[in-house]
Amino acid sequence: MVENFEFHAPTRVVFGHGTEERTGELIRSLGKHKVLLVYGGGSAERSGLLAKIGASLAAAGIAWTELGGVTPNPRLSFVYRGIEKGREEGAELILAVGGGSVIDASKAIGYGLANPGDVWDFYDFKRQAAACLPVGVVLTLAATGSEMSDSSVITNDRTLEKRSYNNDLGRPAFAVMDPELTLHLPPFQTACGCCDIIMHTLERYFTNGGQMELTDAIAEGLLRTVIKESRILKVHPEDYDARAEIMWAGSLSHNDLTGCGHTNRDFATHRLEHEVSGLFDVAHGAGLTALWGSWARYVYRDCLPRFVRFATHVMDVPAEGPDETVALKGIEALEAFFRSMDMPLSFRELGIRPTEEQLRDLARRCSHTAHGRLGSARVLREEDMYRIYKAAAER
Ligand code: NZQ
Ligand code: ZN
Repeated sequence: MVENFEFHAPTRVVFGHGTEERTGELIRSLGKHKVLLVYGGGSAERSGLLAKIGASLAAAGIAWTELGGVTPNPRLSFVYRGIEKGREEGAELILAVGGGSVIDASKAIGYGLANPGDVWDFYDFKRQAAACLPVGVVLTLAATGSEMSDSSVITNDRTLEKRSYNNDLGRPAFAVMDPELTLHLPPFQTACGCCDIIMHTLERYFTNGGQMELTDAIAEGLLRTVIKESRILKVHPEDYDARAEIMWAGSLSHNDLTGCGHTNRDFATHRLEHEVSGLFDVAHGAGLTALWGSWARYVYRDCLPRFVRFATHVMDVPAEGPDETVALKGIEALEAFFRSMDMPLSFRELGIRPTEEQLRDLARRCSHTAHGRLGSARVLREEDMYRIYKAAAER
């Protein structure tokens, strides 16, 4: 049955060769003249991108201040610094130049500048934001879909709680996407991005609520495309067209297009992963692949028709034999793909060795963040979460 839905995608997407040169013009068209330009650890500076964007801003008569230093798994302390700087400079728009971490930090700064009080309150379920300063994006890494999503994920440095705050106010005003900016990504970041994109789609696909043929067809097409183009990028990382396919897939995987008509998105693997990257500071995409197989084997019987459909429609498993066998072959096939991208399938391969106490702590934190219930393929409680962590630790 097709469930009611709302689809809100206000981001103006400007895609293709040289589009970063239009950044200044895009900001001017929004009537903004003072910008806080946020970037990460230096890749945007080294590649010459910051200089190009600076030229575009100057040509459009936009004044800007730069604030670099966003780390992967961005920290609340950086967000506070950004809010202070934005306030001092009277910023009217936050320009995020980077990947998901830079975009998420920029959204948080945008919330902090547009609302009184502590911005962490929004991430800590205490209250809702009434506004967000507009955020513009120049994307340098196809992965999180944050360039169109309503989500911002921040880690509290003090408690290591990694929390996502979802609000339509945080959807960027525009996203400049030039696939060329991703041609020289380290192979590990490319692979992390491709797997994250797959996971955003699957989190909406493995559900026990609602179904819409068109949504499934879009999701399956997206998944097949990402798998195919990822394989191309493994061998030819500078293939522009493959980069373009992946970049657009990243945005569509997380702007909710692949969830229309479904209810109850699953998102268990993501929530389980956020606790892991919060505590151990691992790359998000790698954390996801390290957990997914353990999650899938724990839940597939409770969502069997969807796992069978995934196996046959996406992973080309023949529809032969009992459903459970077909479903398991689909899980194995996706894991084989992750493996072929040199991604981890367990905590050991991820490079972490949580103690028993830490596994319990991860489950406690995850259950707390999820208010005690998580997922749709199978509803998980704290003990289930622990068992999935334990399985990932024992592989
Ligand atoms: O900081 P710099 O020097 O730029 O280096 C970054 C960083 O080290 C590098 N990089 C980015 N673009 C590059 C590049 N290196 C060379 N060339 C380029 N063109 O890549 C490294 C990772 O960057 P990061 O932004 O951390 O990666 P990603 O885009 O995967 O973002 C991950 C963060 O987003 C959150 C994750 O939890 C994690 O904190 N997520 C955000 C979501 C959202 N807002 O909708 C949804 C996701 O599910 C995810 O949870
Ligand atoms: Zn993700």
